[in-house]
Amino acid sequence: MNQIMETILHRRSIRRFAPEQIDEAALEQILQAGLYAPSAGGRQGVLFAVSQDREVNLRLGRIKRANSNPRMASGGNYVSREQPSIADDPAITDAFYGAPTVITLFAPKGFLFSAEDCAAAAENMLLAADSLGVGGCYIGQGWTAFADPYGQEILRRWGIRTDYYAVMQLLLGYPRPGDPHPTPKPRKEGRVLRV
Ligand SMILES: Cc1cc2nc3c(=O)[nH]c(=O)nc-3n(C[C@H](O)[C@H](O)[C@H](O)COP(=O)(O)O)c2cc1C
Repeated sequence: MNQIMETILHRRSIRRFAPEQIDEAALEQILQAGLYAPSAGGRQGVLFAVSQDREVNLRLGRIKRANSNPRMASGGNYVSREQPSIADDPAITDAFYGAPTVITLFAPKGFLFSAEDCAAAAENMLLAADSLGVGGCYIGQGWTAFADPYGQEILRRWGIRTDYYAVMQLLLGYPRPGDPHPTPKPRKEGRVLRV
């Protein structure tokens, strides 16, 4: 298996982070992976807002948690047993799980492919992160982290244009020492249709 395939199979969502900040050279490479992702029409419309301010990340993560669907996983229906998500554990108050680096991906409100562009960039970045020993997690519905007066103030502080919206967040940090690397759920059968 080549290295790309190994990384694709190895990557898992990491939600338990060591306290230290990630290496700057690793962050640069992860951002480069995002910048070189495919984009609809080659427009390169995605903006990457990198926040390593723990106070800001915590406050935005709490706002997002408060704005999240309270539906909780139960029984056999769970997101992750090894690295519980907010859907698994009602005691988690920060939807960013204390990640030391939170990158919000913004894209134009009026563009049909904004979400797809961000998802393509995010997966490139998650794979780059895994290959560099950095843990990452994709966080959907990025706008809910800014849905209160503090969030709006942050958007102004960051100079985000009002015709852009927060599509998603990408969490980055080193996995907590001693945590086993999560195992993937078994793949569901019958999803490939050779038509
Ligand atoms: C569109 C999208 C949105 C997601 N949103 C969240 C989220 O809000 N919180 C979270 O903890 N994980 C989120 N995830 C991560 C998924 O829960 C995770 O990818 C899935 O459980 C499979 O686990 P794996 O990434 O380890 O393979 C999201 C993933 C995708 C693709």
